[in-house]
Amino acid sequence: MSHESRLTVLILAAGEGTRMKSDTAKVLFPVCGRPMIEYILDAAHAVAPDKIVVIVGHKGDEVRREVTGEWAPGRNMPGYIDFAWQLSQRGTGHAVACARGHMHPDCNHVMILCGDTPLITGEMLQEFVQSHLSLDAGLSFITTFVDDPGSYGRVRRDGHGNVSKIVEAKELLPGDESIKEVNAGIYVIKKDLLEHLLPRLKSDNAKNEFYLTDIVEMAVQDGSRVSAFVWPESSMAQGVNDRYALALAESQLRENVLRKFCMSGVTIRDPKNTYIDFGVEIGKNTVIEPGTFLRGRTRVGQGCVIGPCSEIINSSVGDKSRIWFSVVEHSEIKDGVEIGPYAHLRPDTVIGPEVLVGNFAEIKNSVIESGAKVHHHSYLGDSFVGQKANIGAGTVTVNYDGVRKHKTVIEEGAFIGCNANLIAPVRIGKGAYVAAGSTITGDVPDGSLGIARERQTNKEGWVAKRKEKMG
Ligand code: UD1
Ligand code: MG
Repeated sequence: MSHESRLTVLILAAGEGTRMKSDTAKVLFPVCGRPMIEYILDAAHAVAPDKIVVIVGHKGDEVRREVTGEWAPGRNMPGYIDFAWQLSQRGTGHAVACARGHMHPDCNHVMILCGDTPLITGEMLQEFVQSHLSLDAGLSFITTFVDDPGSYGRVRRDGHGNVSKIVEAKELLPGDESIKEVNAGIYVIKKDLLEHLLPRLKSDNAKNEFYLTDIVEMAVQDGSRVSAFVWPESSMAQGVNDRYALALAESQLRENVLRKFCMSGVTIRDPKNTYIDFGVEIGKNTVIEPGTFLRGRTRVGQGCVIGPCSEIINSSVGDKSRIWFSVVEHSEIKDGVEIGPYAHLRPDTVIGPEVLVGNFAEIKNSVIESGAKVHHHSYLGDSFVGQKANIGAGTVTVNYDGVRKHKTVIEEGAFIGCNANLIAPVRIGKGAYVAAGSTITGDVPDGSLGIARERQTNKEGWVAKRKEKMG
């Protein structure tokens, strides 16, 4: 912002969100894995305000915790984000009035945003502010055209096309029903004008609330310049008042996220069946197969194939790896790895390069070094597996004694035969073998064979003798 135009942004986030029918604050509902209010904060940050004031009320402490906890770069300057309390929710106009003492002392324009419109973008707000300043408007607000105006405020214009008023959905008069131009809930107003209008708001309306939207008619009547900034893409206005609107916002945002990936060289085979959270990173030439969920802070490298039917949560995947029909949580997967089908990597697992994990393998809190193979109905918990070790079918690390967890170490090149139980703490030495069916309770030295099972005896002729006895 230039010296002449200094902005404070107010974000209205105190409402009860009654229509969501939930105990969670509305602005904390996740959209593509991220609380709604985070999108608003990002967009607000893009207009370079001196200060952002979040007006909180209903579940205000939780909203505060979210806003101060998830710092995006540049948002954590002291005093940049402030909170104003609206203790009883008496409408959007009342919410703004609660923030009066919190504006930056040097600000001369105030931007007001709703906390429940997660599709707004910084670019749109930048254009909006530019338009407001270049027109030297007293008050500007964003409008858009929709087929079904539902609960949005309608933009009433006079015979010359000039805005005369925003009419709330509950206050429509005959004639207003045909209006398709709606209020997106985004305003910029000269601070002096706002200070002048706020005390004049009244609550004599259908909801007994102080509607912020009434400032439009008041500003027009006072002779201030009022500008309606029409935005062609109506989807950005999607306000989330109920869970159906939440679903609409989510599917729109998801579409935006997936389109961005496609433009950056990622193949999304079936966008309708792919769910990628905001903030996930994917390298080029990676293919995302249907039924895939990439959540939280997940990063996938280049040239991977992810899916079909896989879920990756807060994990990183290197280059040229493949994950199919599997679940990965809070883990790190290096390059050239194959996970699946039907594997479950639980938190704190590190899978080294060229490792193969699949066919009903479960791994938790373990490090598997390069080239190791972990297949077929195995469980590795709290373990270390050295390079090129081979974990046979049905291997189980018995890591829990009912009280504490213990570590299993399987050194480089070791070979664990099928159906072995490794009772931790235990160490299988370098290049050592464990015989199939063993229950190993003590360490196996390097290069040795550990065998711990009953020797087989055959009773010859036993079947015939039995038949004879039974008659
Ligand atoms: C509001 C607008 C409507 C606009 C729509 C755009 C008013 C009166 N109406 O309607 O013209 O088309 O947004 O999405 O402004 N809030 C508070 N304190 C309160 C009430 C609300 O902080 O006392 C907050 C809510 O948390 C929410 C935002 O203000 O984030 C908007 O409130 P909401 O009840 O969703 O208003 P809408 O009915 O959507
Ligand atoms: Mg709303």
